[in-house]
Amino acid sequence: MMGQREIDTNTLIEWLDAGKKVNILDVRPTREREEWGIPGSVHIDAYGELKKNNPDALKSVNFDKSIPVVTVCAGGKTSLIAAEMLQASGYETYNLQGGMKSWSLAWNTASLAFEDFEIIQFRRTGKGCLSYMVISDQEAMVIDASLPVEVYQEFLDQRELTLNYTADTHIHADHLSRTKELAERHGIKPSFPSNDKLGYPFHPVADGQDFSIGSIKVLAIHTPGHILESISYLIDGKVILTGDTLFTNGVGRPDLKADKEETAKKATLLFHSIQKILGLDQSIIVMPGHSSQPVAFDNKPIQSALKEMVKNTPLLKESEQEFVQSLLKRIPNPPENYMKIVEKNSTGDFTDLNPIDLEAVANRCAIS
Ligand SMILES: [Fe+2]
Repeated sequence: MMGQREIDTNTLIEWLDAGKKVNILDVRPTREREEWGIPGSVHIDAYGELKKNNPDALKSVNFDKSIPVVTVCAGGKTSLIAAEMLQASGYETYNLQGGMKSWSLAWNTASLAFEDFEIIQFRRTGKGCLSYMVISDQEAMVIDASLPVEVYQEFLDQRELTLNYTADTHIHADHLSRTKELAERHGIKPSFPSNDKLGYPFHPVADGQDFSIGSIKVLAIHTPGHILESISYLIDGKVILTGDTLFTNGVGRPDLKADKEETAKKATLLFHSIQKILGLDQSIIVMPGHSSQPVAFDNKPIQSALKEMVKNTPLLKESEQEFVQSLLKRIPNPPENYMKIVEKNSTGDFTDLNPIDLEAVANRCAIS
């Protein structure tokens, strides 16, 4: 059918941000849906039947017809069939252009304000990647930039901020780091944990080093385990950005690029790194590098006070031996494309690829 209405990801984000009523229907196969989805969407595994043009493929759909429906699949083609079917049965429907592939870059923000500083959490909602801008007295530092640099740039411009530093908690395996590109735009050197893997100039960050932003300091704390170089950043002694070391309901995986013996060693290191973090003031707020769930458009930062985390995460109560055994037993499949992403992040050259193709897969960084 010609003339089916379509919607792009930016417009859908605007709708969700504004709280507009919309039913999002995800028609992908169940195994794809289990990997990731749009927050609040309804799933019907109709993929096979839609491909066959079965007119009953969406028989079970029973939405309020006064609310628009957005149909979604992996790339935006099968969902077009779904949109046409629903349109024919009286729904106002829109097909999501580019499907989940395009949605991979969808993002929203949430913020947390303190007396001397503010933290903006930038969330890639589909993949759950979290990046941060720390702001104090009109100066800023961006940590773990995972969105196109324009997103951070626009924010800096709007608020008339000076970017002092860009930094990563570690060399990422699940998304392309935009830390180098953002630094280059501002004529500064990107900061990475001290390592011998990056093929371009960077400022090596070591344990105990601090960064000045406006009236506050950001302290680097070496927290090896997820990878050997992982750094966490303690902001003005009040918030700690833990990267993939510690999540609000789990811990980082220690197995990437490691054999079994090495994984066990890294799990032990992770245990001690987490103990180091847990030994800090219990009121400190943890803001992690990922969310295991798609991030809602709710403006609520993903965070947890240290004292809450211990209560909510059974793994954190285990002894060293139990912790290592638990991790070894629960290691999920490695994230797709991770070797390629690490390689790209190490060279810092993304000119020969389409980031969306490489990154449009779910995160599998946590063990809980
Ligand atoms: Fe990671």
